[in-house]
Amino acid sequence: MSPPASIEMIADILRKGGLAALPTETVYGLGANALDPVAVARIFAAKERPFFDPLIVHLADLDWLPRVVKSFPPIAKTLAERFWPGPMTLVLPKSEVVPDLVTSGMPTVGIRIPDHELTRQVLRLANVPVAAPSANLFGRLSPTTAEHVREQLGDRIDALLDGGPCRVGVESSILRVEGDRVTLLRPGGIPVEEIEIAVGAPVHHELTTGDKPAAPGMLDSHYAPRTPLTVGNQIPPAAPWPRSGLLTFEAPHDSHGYAMVEVLSPKGDLVTAAAQFFQALHRLDAAGLDGIFAIAFPDRGLGRALNDRLKRAAFRKAETPN
Ligand code: TXA
Ligand code: MG
Repeated sequence: MSPPASIEMIADILRKGGLAALPTETVYGLGANALDPVAVARIFAAKERPFFDPLIVHLADLDWLPRVVKSFPPIAKTLAERFWPGPMTLVLPKSEVVPDLVTSGMPTVGIRIPDHELTRQVLRLANVPVAAPSANLFGRLSPTTAEHVREQLGDRIDALLDGGPCRVGVESSILRVEGDRVTLLRPGGIPVEEIEIAVGAPVHHELTTGDKPAAPGMLDSHYAPRTPLTVGNQIPPAAPWPRSGLLTFEAPHDSHGYAMVEVLSPKGDLVTAAAQFFQALHRLDAAGLDGIFAIAFPDRGLGRALNDRLKRAAFRKAETPN
């Protein structure tokens, strides 16, 4: 069966150096041929992303892997067999063919095989590795529907493949593998508890706050709505602003006085909550509220990745006295 024309068209755009937004199971990505530095530069321009923040390279399958990485330690193989295709990025020593622009000059490259059938078809047909950051403007909310991409980047890209809402809804877990040492650089779509079971040992954690995080994109302020966001453990009894939004995991006992309430999982299920998270934040951000109050998630499973996103969405640089 030949794939639909739109898939062929998008593969062609990528091969020719264009920009295409692609669905993945985590968030939508803004893709370009990773081996074409000019195409990669267009990603940074469209997103207004600083060049110090490296891109993840997406592959259809393991065939391309030996061409883009210098080594693939046994523990990386174990992780790949267990979690690919899926929401995991492995940071490995890069090969010569990967342009420095992709990795921001780092000797390592982040690799991921995404679990979205349409995008894997595009990757297979294009037959090039595809560099793709999340398809949002730098620092803003990640896109989990095609509409989110259209709103932020619509007129800056050559094509958008609509693959429906993202199934996982939170970005990939990023793991750096050096020999048999595995370090979590960004909590994401695979709970750390599951990664540790696969590795058979505790994973290391590298501090991901401050101005120079291990994954350069893990800045203190990130994933941010334009509406100010505050995080707390309990719903304030009086709504904090004239028009307040409330983001909660489970159904609240009382949300009196809140202009808009988003409940991520009435049943208290973190997987459902993750899938809804960015969509709910996009809706709250579009509602013209004075502020959003978000209740922190339980600190387990995907709750950890969601708390990480909340912390960065809430961060505001302390005003420095002059
Ligand atoms: O789920 C995802 O990972 C999505 C989809 C589109 O695949 N992509 C994504 O890309 O979230 P982006 O660019 O928004 O975030 C990538 C993160 C950044 O924080 C970047 O600093 C880090 O990955 N990263 C990329 N290459 C790296 C490397 N060689 N070493 C350390 N961190 C790296
Ligand atoms: Mg991003």
